[in-house]
Amino acid sequence: MRTIKDTDLKGKTVLLRADFNVPLSEDMKITDDLRITSTIPTIRYILDAGASVILCSHLGRPKGKPDPAFTLAPVAERLEELLGEKVIFADDPEVTGAVTDEAAARLRAGEARVMLMQNTRYREEEEANDPDFSRRLASYADVFVLDAFGCAHRAHASTVGVSEFIPACGGLLLEKEVSYLKDRLQDPERPYTVIMGGAKVSDKIELINNLLKKADRLVIGGAMANTFLKAKGLNMGTSKVEEDKLPLALEILDNAKAAGVEVYLPTDLRCASEFSADAECVVCSADAVEDDMMALDIGPRTEKAYSDVIRSSATVVFNGPMGVFEFERFASGTRAVITAMAESEAVTVVGGGDSAAAVASFGMSEKMSHVSTGGGASLEMLEGKVLPGVAIME
Ligand code: 3PG
Repeated sequence: MRTIKDTDLKGKTVLLRADFNVPLSEDMKITDDLRITSTIPTIRYILDAGASVILCSHLGRPKGKPDPAFTLAPVAERLEELLGEKVIFADDPEVTGAVTDEAAARLRAGEARVMLMQNTRYREEEEANDPDFSRRLASYADVFVLDAFGCAHRAHASTVGVSEFIPACGGLLLEKEVSYLKDRLQDPERPYTVIMGGAKVSDKIELINNLLKKADRLVIGGAMANTFLKAKGLNMGTSKVEEDKLPLALEILDNAKAAGVEVYLPTDLRCASEFSADAECVVCSADAVEDDMMALDIGPRTEKAYSDVIRSSATVVFNGPMGVFEFERFASGTRAVITAMAESEAVTVVGGGDSAAAVASFGMSEKMSHVSTGGGASLEMLEGKVLPGVAIME
């Protein structure tokens, strides 16, 4: 992959597409800045190489129109704090209109080294990958750097289209994400274990099919485990189950057996009579779930078994929580699995979205080899798909 390390940046202006699609509270405060902090090394690298940076990103889904609920203003503020230097914010409803032209002129005149454009999705041309919009974006810079791994699965004007008009390369975050989620998993250190959770088997079917070609062990938890257990003939009471996916679950188990992949399912569960943070937590064997109970987490015996599997692995990918970790009473399984990963010597990779949120909520992000900043993008990469934003650099 072509990266900024192979590119001469001295004296240039760089258009840097970041993924600053961060969660905001109602009063427009950033509640998780991982995506901003993860981009800082790339920004610093570019500045140290003697270039100035024009940052662009989308935030949320404003449907092609300016909308103050999706402004990047809070990101500009946070960037200034993290970089410790001035960031010119081009608060331009047209994104590439007169306000941005004037801001870019101030950047060229040396008022600052960093500028942030307004939300690229204020323009419907962004998601349409419109060439005129791409050309306008490219006109502000000499080089395009894509660091927005979280958007690398989107072929939009600011992620892919721009590369038609100026030379393009990947940033340090993009390089790191691809290294952990793709390159190292092509020929992983073995045993290679994938911990998979979340609600639906159907959401993960492509992932599972790809993993059956590569992984040694598939460890299943979360509501998707219920579907597998029910498919094996167990009573799951009122648990969340994808009834129409029972044959699919059986097929997956057969395919795993044929591929020599060991599949681990819960042998005990933490159940409740209702989906509530205050519900009493009752531990039961996986084959003894009462009719009026629902599984909300894996049980203590399963926790121990899964932790042992992790400890004896050389590569571990975590994709989806083991239970409703947002409820303290049902967080134990997810916490145990994440702790075992944090304590292991293995290469540990955390898929983005819910998985990254779970690891962060237990304060263990720093203990992982890599926590992905991508949600949909990390899933697609683990599924073995070619991401358009990565393809243009290869
Ligand atoms: C994400 O949050 O996964 C990325 O920023 C992409 O956002 P999108 O799903 O709205 O394209």
